[in-house]
Amino acid sequence: MQPIDAMKLIRPRRLRKNHAVRQSVQETLLTAAHLVQPLFISSTTENISSMPGQTRLNLTDLKKKILSLKDLGLFGVALFSHIHEKHKDAKASMALKDELYFEAIHCVKDTAPELQVITDVALDPYSSEGHDGLVSPTGEILNDETLEVLAQMALLHAKHGADFIAPSDMMDGRVFTIRQALEMNAYKNTGIISYTAKYASNFYGPFREALDSAPKKGDKKSYQMDFANSNEALREALLDADEGADYLMVKPAGLYLDIIYRLNQMNLAPIAAYQVSGEYSCLMAAIHQGWLDQDKAINESLIAIRRAGASLIFTYFAEQWAKSKS
Ligand code: PBG
Repeated sequence: MQPIDAMKLIRPRRLRKNHAVRQSVQETLLTAAHLVQPLFISSTTENISSMPGQTRLNLTDLKKKILSLKDLGLFGVALFSHIHEKHKDAKASMALKDELYFEAIHCVKDTAPELQVITDVALDPYSSEGHDGLVSPTGEILNDETLEVLAQMALLHAKHGADFIAPSDMMDGRVFTIRQALEMNAYKNTGIISYTAKYASNFYGPFREALDSAPKKGDKKSYQMDFANSNEALREALLDADEGADYLMVKPAGLYLDIIYRLNQMNLAPIAAYQVSGEYSCLMAAIHQGWLDQDKAINESLIAIRRAGASLIFTYFAEQWAKSKS
């Protein structure tokens, strides 16, 4: 008998040899229940050129969209408001009287009560400055003054039926302020999905085009995080968990898998991740060129985010992914 080299006894390929075996050892499960579809609400329905396949929806088309999502088993939808330039001002006043947005919340809950409605709390869609917070005459983004408006916004969203409030503004202390307002006003079961580690990313461009919400001056680096940092995300996570966030979000997702992984290891709260507009548009561009297989590339991009540790994924591919599996 020839001596057997021990190394040759270990053959990982045995566990890859056919579909049944591969399925049995698959570690990461992705289902529609992990996915959130972001939707843009507007007075008129219009295609978004930088995000092929995504549209701004008026209420009639929102209802149609919800009917087509209804039976896919998604976790929910995240609603974003597109506001006409003439309705924006320095105080972002429309944030507290965006009737169309409130109607959109009702429309989803009336049409598909099982879909979770996640509302966006930040001032940028309403601000003539295009910033997430109020801006001082010298151009400073005002933290504490902004918190008061955010809390009122959150209360209005809760009153109109939001299941989860998602503050995307990155002001300090906003989770606590919103949690406190909800608790004191009988909305103790309304949850908070906090944009905990939201980076000052260059991948939000198509979204800002979708909402016409790009900052008029400067950038968002005094409130969104430096993409060179990772320990800072842990600090934000500790704060948001302490302040009462139910989910901690990392945004963007695909380029920030290390952050998702580290935050999930802390075991403070389940992690949400946002595969943002720029990630969507990059993939769609290559798919349209025929350089990537649509369903396979999308699936891999989402599995990777789950594997890193995200429980929930906000993705413009949610509907498409769920339909490809059903
Ligand atoms: C702003 C907000 C942004 C996104 C969600 N909420 C853009 C920004 O911070 O400028 C980006 C989402 C995406 O790119 O898909 N509150």
